[in-house]
Amino acid sequence: MGVTMGLNLLLLMAMVATNILSLYHLSSTLQTPKPPTPQPVPDHLLHQLHTLRATINHLTRDHPSPSTATAKTTKPDIPSDLLLYSQLSPIASSCHNHPDLVHKYMTYTPFSLCPLDSDLAEALILRGCHPLPRRRCFTRTPPKPTSSLPLNPFPPSLPDSNVLWDKYSCKSFSCLGGKNPNLGFDLPHEVSNFMTYKSELDLPIPQLFQIAKAANSVLRLGVDIGGGTGTFAARMKLYNVTVVTTTMNLGIPNNEAVALRGLVPIHAPLQQRLPVFDGVVDLVRCGHAVNRWIPVTALEFLLFDADRVLRGGGYLWLDKFFSKGVDLEKVFGPLIGKLGYRKVKWATANKNDSGGIKNGEVYLSALLQKPVSK
Ligand SMILES: *[C@@H]1O[C@H](CO)[C@@H](O)[C@H](O)[C@H]1NC(C)=O
Ligand SMILES: *[C@@H]1O[C@H](CO)[C@@H](O)[C@H](O)[C@H]1NC(C)=O
Repeated sequence: MGVTMGLNLLLLMAMVATNILSLYHLSSTLQTPKPPTPQPVPDHLLHQLHTLRATINHLTRDHPSPSTATAKTTKPDIPSDLLLYSQLSPIASSCHNHPDLVHKYMTYTPFSLCPLDSDLAEALILRGCHPLPRRRCFTRTPPKPTSSLPLNPFPPSLPDSNVLWDKYSCKSFSCLGGKNPNLGFDLPHEVSNFMTYKSELDLPIPQLFQIAKAANSVLRLGVDIGGGTGTFAARMKLYNVTVVTTTMNLGIPNNEAVALRGLVPIHAPLQQRLPVFDGVVDLVRCGHAVNRWIPVTALEFLLFDADRVLRGGGYLWLDKFFSKGVDLEKVFGPLIGKLGYRKVKWATANKNDSGGIKNGEVYLSALLQKPVSK
């Protein structure tokens, strides 16, 4: 207990110290408008970073040794505020479960280029380590980006030069588009999405607007959860509706593609609280990423978080959610029912691909309206 507190305190002091140092650093470099040329890193700062990493290691490994050399540097008379704030988790608690990844992530040289490790960051985020600890290094950007970015969210192609391809197996958008049109990178192919009615499961956007209009409900703002390359937001933009898209890369440049289409990508996993305030959006759509693979508890939190951000009268759209037929009846149907929303649309159909047939899976497409008051 005492040791943990001591370590917490040490970590806090190290953080405060490095922050003061960086402030000092900032104030001393502000006068000169600078290109980010790597500056020599003072030894004591390196030392502090080292201590910080070591402390994170101690904390995360639950090191019990009472007489660590570092523990004795804590001062006896501590302001109560410091004690209070040292109780706050210095790093998101799930980060504790992955000390090796956190350690690797925090191994960098301050004030110079960051390691090329966006995949490491995503690996941590996907494991619930979110928000990630911040760093003071310069994230790499493509060396020759084009400035002629499209305003149209359905351009014939996206500029390859605006992506760092090092971490991806494909090295161009056309490679990704050719690989699998369902990945969402073949934009001419994406144009027809959300616009046609092929089965009961489809809800074409013009019909969505009709439904909202008939209910006197305006659609202005939305969140698309697990939205891939952002095609839903792209289509809604053409209707003057602002939709932000949560999307993970998972080995393909989804976030980059969303941004290059002039849309807002939110790099957040499904298990994270949406970074949106309560009751402010008109529409939440859950696409293909939201399905029976998500643990039921996580899905329950996801649905309640969607409820949190929706305004009264707003819509939750489960777009082709799939699960086993029996689970839809016994588990997911009742789970969705807990929200107490009005069922505007509730359509199910058998999932006819080989996996669907093997597992007795069904699709559900549901448009649900949040009651105005509880
Ligand atoms: C979107 O806004 C533009 C500019 O105000 C307007 O010309 C256009 O008709 C609007 N589109 C729709 C679908 O409402
Ligand atoms: C699967 O096949 C059945 C029977 O032909 C059909 O009614 C259903 O709509 C199909 N499911 C989908 C998702 O197309």
